[in-house]
Amino acid sequence: MQPDRRDFIKKALTGVLALLGIGFIVPALRILTPSRVREKEMAYFPLLPEEELPRAGVKKAELTYKALGRDMKARVFLVSSPEGVTALSSTCTHLGCLVNYRRDKKEFVCPCHSGRYDLTGKNIGGPPPAPLTRFPVRIRDGIVHIGMKV
Ligand code: FES
Repeated sequence: MQPDRRDFIKKALTGVLALLGIGFIVPALRILTPSRVREKEMAYFPLLPEEELPRAGVKKAELTYKALGRDMKARVFLVSSPEGVTALSSTCTHLGCLVNYRRDKKEFVCPCHSGRYDLTGKNIGGPPPAPLTRFPVRIRDGIVHIGMKV
């Protein structure tokens, strides 16, 4: 092989390897950038006026909020107790059906596979593997805000 030809092949291989390296490194860096690996941040969204909070029992409400630039909705149960008001997700932790509140039993019941939760959201019967998700509640300027990870 002539020196010019060897030189050309060597440079061509180096160029191809450099392009392959860029092809792998750039996507890897995108995946590992802080915005991709950071935890979702908690943001608070207004739900209803403070005077509409339940004095006793359970109230169903629908929260609208923005996440990832999209309008989202979440059905929330507000549960009053001597400790205050808690907000529970209405999404069953088994397969994601929406649970209903059974006033006569003071339980949340899932219509899909009869999963049951108590008023604290604890799973007490059926297939749900975990309690209902609790959302943080904050009251600012007379408005109840619910915390969501976005
Ligand atoms: S989805 Fe709720 S019990 Fe199965």
